[in-house]
Amino acid sequence: MTIATKIQIPLVDLKAQYATIRDEVLPAIEDVLEGMQLTIGPNVRAFDEEFAAFCGTKHSIGVGSGTDALQLVIRALGVTNGDEVITVSHTFFATVEAILYANARPVLVDIDEKTLNISLEAIAAAITPRTKVIMPVHLYGRTVDMKPILALARERNIQVIEDACQAHGATLDVGGRAGSTGAAGCFSFYCSKNLGAYGEAGAITTNDDRLAAELRSLREHGQSTRYYHPIVGYNARLDEIQAAILRIKLRRLEGWNARRLAIAKHYDQVLADTEIIRPEIPDDGRHVFHCYVVRVPGQGRDAFRDALAADGIGTGIHYPVPIHLQEAAHFLGYRKGDLPVTEKVAPEVVSLPMYPELTDAQVETVADAVKRALR
Ligand SMILES: Cc1ncc(COP(=O)(O)O)c(C=O)c1O
Repeated sequence: MTIATKIQIPLVDLKAQYATIRDEVLPAIEDVLEGMQLTIGPNVRAFDEEFAAFCGTKHSIGVGSGTDALQLVIRALGVTNGDEVITVSHTFFATVEAILYANARPVLVDIDEKTLNISLEAIAAAITPRTKVIMPVHLYGRTVDMKPILALARERNIQVIEDACQAHGATLDVGGRAGSTGAAGCFSFYCSKNLGAYGEAGAITTNDDRLAAELRSLREHGQSTRYYHPIVGYNARLDEIQAAILRIKLRRLEGWNARRLAIAKHYDQVLADTEIIRPEIPDDGRHVFHCYVVRVPGQGRDAFRDALAADGIGTGIHYPVPIHLQEAAHFLGYRKGDLPVTEKVAPEVVSLPMYPELTDAQVETVADAVKRALR
């Protein structure tokens, strides 16, 4: 079906947010350009400190993307050929790419239908003597229950990496914020994230001094001091312009997250009398609603999205094809039917418009359109 209608309320509206911070962002970019220190400099160093303080960790290491963050931590933990890393199939592809870069085997497990996050039972059943890492993903901004995972990992001498790429500022069941447990937390500052750069950027948070030092070296070609390379690393630096922008945005993140939660609660209320399955809303900061994802049970998801588009409402699918069924993952040997909950929800999930600048009136317009689309 060709949609001619103009989208009035997009899935994400980056221009609306830019309008609120333009007066701070442009001079900050200009400052960087005037100084012409463009790679690791005062803004990267300050952002590393400010983001660590925000997450409650000893260190934050700014890198080029969330994928870099995952890749560098996996490498720094010594994960290699034949090692196994347990994670979910219901995630963005990069979670698994980072494991494959190390020639390790991603062991993809099912999710819990209530939270759409990794299932603890599935993790326990997937552990083998080769399991090196458990990598829970705080999908859509909702944090995974870390307490039982950390206990299991400790007992079995396995490392934990939080893929917190969608959960900036979300709180954890064990206290503290996403990215503050296990060996390290990995963040993406992709432009549409709750904390998004105006280009590519990411960070790794950790409380481990040795790991932090290694990651700082890995992000700059494995060098110890300039042009001295004890190890082979990567070009995975965060740049000064992105760091300057992120510093401005970080100061607003808590307010933006609070607004996302208020929007989620508003959706929850206005969609209560429909048949779509709404996300649970924990009231303790454990969900920062990077995405507001509902489920349209049965076969109607695509027609539902078309009807919303015809009404001027943008939506998204996060994610249409689980990783274990992706073409690029065929060689891993998974088959349809291997992960029943993941496969059940993938054809049902729809992300509705979600960004802090969405007004109450727009939430109601979306809800009205949802009701028409379901008829
Ligand atoms: C869950 C998850 N992991 C990893 C990534 C990779 O981050 P980036 O796109 O910054 O490389 C993303 C970002 O989209 C993500 O959502």
